[in-house]
Amino acid sequence: MTAPVKVGVVGCGYWGPNLVRNFRSLPDCRLEMMCDLSEERLDHLRTLYPEVRGEASFEHMLNGAGLDAVVIATAVQMHYPMARASLLAGKHTFIEKPMARSSRECEELVALARRQGLVLMVGHTFLYSPVVRRIREIVESGDIGEIRYISARRLNLGLYQKEINVAWDLAPHDVSIILYIMEEMPVSVSCQGSAHITPGVEDVTLMGLTFRRNRSALIHNSWLDPKKVREMTIVGGQRMIVYDDVEQMEKIRIFDARVERPPHYDSFAEFQYAYHYGDMYVPYIKQEEPLRVECQHFLDCIRHGREPLSNGVQGLELVKILEAADASLKQGGSTVPLGTAGPWGGAMARAGNGDQRMISAGGEQKRAPGGAEAIGSGVVGCELAH
Ligand SMILES: NC(=O)c1ccc[n+]([C@@H]2O[C@H](COP(=O)([O-])OP(=O)(O)OC[C@H]3O[C@@H](n4cnc5c(N)ncnc54)[C@H](O)[C@@H]3O)[C@@H](O)[C@H]2O)c1
Repeated sequence: MTAPVKVGVVGCGYWGPNLVRNFRSLPDCRLEMMCDLSEERLDHLRTLYPEVRGEASFEHMLNGAGLDAVVIATAVQMHYPMARASLLAGKHTFIEKPMARSSRECEELVALARRQGLVLMVGHTFLYSPVVRRIREIVESGDIGEIRYISARRLNLGLYQKEINVAWDLAPHDVSIILYIMEEMPVSVSCQGSAHITPGVEDVTLMGLTFRRNRSALIHNSWLDPKKVREMTIVGGQRMIVYDDVEQMEKIRIFDARVERPPHYDSFAEFQYAYHYGDMYVPYIKQEEPLRVECQHFLDCIRHGREPLSNGVQGLELVKILEAADASLKQGGSTVPLGTAGPWGGAMARAGNGDQRMISAGGEQKRAPGGAEAIGSGVVGCELAH
């Protein structure tokens, strides 16, 4: 495909306009249409982008605009019906996170996209962040040693949702990053939470993921916190990485810190833990807007017939984790086995998809699990919203 990819974006509320802005600015894309039920939202976007058609009917957008691809940025309960209709209409389809409301819906979409021979991509935006890609490179290099655990905090005041709890809203970002770094699915999930404002809709959750080899992750999400916090700590046997996405310049700090237990001692009195405090350093990372890289990746996958890094199978795996978290919440936080333990994106690898490509921090070609390669781009960027 050599002509510009004709794209339409449905859902122009809070997040959709960021997708509109990015697709409109990419040279190998023609943003043909913006769709929203709200005339007010359409009027606002028409003032920003008068050359792009605004449309209130999703059906008209699918059938009347000659689009190659549809980007879905509506609330999660609309993802499945809209993505299904889009794939049945023969459009490559991008769905915002979380992919759908249930793993059954995700499985159906994955199968449908395969049958139709269309690209299906999910908006796991942080996988396209140079910072997250650098963290994975550092971990892969062995510099921090074997990962012991990862802890993540994603907190702020609101934005409250009625249909989904805070884990479905915010944890997709943390879980997608953690799976990308761990390169495997957890063995089990547990989740505790409480609903303080909307009855039955948890606004604070604490999720635990257990991995093989005594590795684990803890994720704290909240809509009820005065401060915007986006932090992740990756604790390795040799060093520790602290990632603060709210920081403007020094988003990653690497601490040469560890605790060692001497292997031999004669009596308990002689037993001493060895605390090691070394240097802290901040690696340089070229800034790029993750969303722009993500949108470009979607276009590249369409043009070259490739499988996206954040494809439908990864969307499905993430939704399985959210479902297990819901089940655990209902049981007061008990451990829910996943039954899908194995390599991250493993279902995709098992399906024989060897042509996946991914993006690396330095812009160089890079192999990924399951035989993937990487391509970079170079645009100065802005922060992610969540
Ligand atoms: N990747 C990220 O970093 C990121 C950040 C924020 C939100 N999101 C995701 O983006 C999606 C949208 O979130 P949001 O906060 O923008 O929601 P929102 O409620 O602000 O916007 C949704 C829009 O969809 C429109 N809409 C609903 N039904 C429609 C229909 N049938 N036809 C046309 N338009 C319709 C609504 O009028 C509304 O304007 C969610 O899946 C969310 O999780 C992703």
